[in-house]
Amino acid sequence: MEHKPNFKELVGFNPALDKYFNDVTQKYDFFNSNQGLIDFSQTALEKYFSLKIKIDPHRLCPRIYNRVDYVEFVLQLMNLYSCETQHFINRQVKRYLGLDVGTGHTAIYPLLTMSIIDKRNESGSKVNETIDLKFIGSDIDSKSVCLAKENIILNEKLISGRIEIVEVSPSRNELYSYLLRRLNLDGEADRLAFVMCNPPFYSSMSELEEKESFKKQSPLSGRVQATNNELITPGGEVQFITDLIEESVVIQGSKGVDRIKWYTSLVGNFASITVLTKALRERSISNFGVHQFKSSEKKGGTRRWIVYWSFDLTWRPPGKFFNVEHEKNHCVRNIDTRMSYSEVVSALESLPQHSLQYESKQKAAKQYLIKVKFKEIVWTRTYRRSLKNGDQKRRKIEAQLDVDISISAQLAVSLNWRGGESYSNFESFCGWLNGCYEFKKGNKNKII
Ligand SMILES: C[S@@+](CC[C@H](N)C(=O)[O-])C[C@H]1O[C@@H](n2cnc3c(N)ncnc32)[C@H](O)[C@@H]1O
Repeated sequence: MEHKPNFKELVGFNPALDKYFNDVTQKYDFFNSNQGLIDFSQTALEKYFSLKIKIDPHRLCPRIYNRVDYVEFVLQLMNLYSCETQHFINRQVKRYLGLDVGTGHTAIYPLLTMSIIDKRNESGSKVNETIDLKFIGSDIDSKSVCLAKENIILNEKLISGRIEIVEVSPSRNELYSYLLRRLNLDGEADRLAFVMCNPPFYSSMSELEEKESFKKQSPLSGRVQATNNELITPGGEVQFITDLIEESVVIQGSKGVDRIKWYTSLVGNFASITVLTKALRERSISNFGVHQFKSSEKKGGTRRWIVYWSFDLTWRPPGKFFNVEHEKNHCVRNIDTRMSYSEVVSALESLPQHSLQYESKQKAAKQYLIKVKFKEIVWTRTYRRSLKNGDQKRRKIEAQLDVDISISAQLAVSLNWRGGESYSNFESFCGWLNGCYEFKKGNKNKII
């Protein structure tokens, strides 16, 4: 995150915040009361993001800094996706359409994202490209929808019609259709869409009370101001996100659907992750990941996760996007033991070269990245059999597999699945490279 809050700077910007200074601890107590949190959030939003936000004291006050982390994650994902797939090649402007499911009364994600994008555009962004963003924020709560619209109007000078707030029925299927209708209405064939969501986390008031009572370190525990809609949903976050997954599968059958490139959602409980990745696998969605982040206005902030998935199998995010160890094996594998750069290259060169391409880059002293692209599964026994049996078996061996191989200065080798449909091909290639080490030790006679 670019901006960590500087309390003194904020008090300088809004001297009314000085009343939260605690003479005993000699610290600011912004987070010990709902009003303190609101005053802090409004000031930080105005100072760092040029946003004027009305926050209803009876509704959820957004914690800005974990919202910023989520926005930045999604922008990085979309940026890398569009660069590496060359979606906007030779165009100065990248065009995105975001959908925020459950935008709440502050429409915090659409507003923050616009502000971050506009600031980057103004300063000549790092990637030297301009982003043209539109956003739809949706909610089932009519009062929140009304207040969100007021917040958009309050910032209209900045927003100039780029954010639309819609009230929806609890069926999210309707919502994705709305997004698709907007994409089609726009008539802009190249606008890429993404979905964000901060779902209600709990299934009931008693679950909420039980989980919140564990967070002893949070002085706001038990005093979070929010409506039931904001915190509670039938089946909790697992059901809510499983519905998002299920409905994304349904909508895949519709026209123009390939334009929703990334579906993402925040996850509040660690235990939900395994259930959600299982739900993705069960629906044969292999291109997914889980990103953990920890952020708050204070040290030692709350852990949160982002689960993300796509139906585009030609591109998968690099390993740094997938940082939850117990799930990571799905697309990032570490080879059991050490191999040097030249050993990895000579293993690759031992394979038939007509169906594979690779390029190497030295990332730092003694650290390498090798990007490999296969058109056929040339390391396998199936491939060798196909050579004997002629062309009728060829279809069996044709498969895209893109893998990034990273080699550290300590010769640790890590493989990251970057493209291609078949998980078992990725696993099989990892196994093959592991086997090459056995060869090095003299445990096997040949590499293939
Ligand atoms: C945890 S709040 C998030 C609010 C805001 N996005 C934020 O991060 O502060 C969840 C929001 O989802 C909305 N919501 C609940 N069920 C929904 C549904 N089926 N479709 C769309 N929104 C829903 C609630 O009304 C609430 O505003």
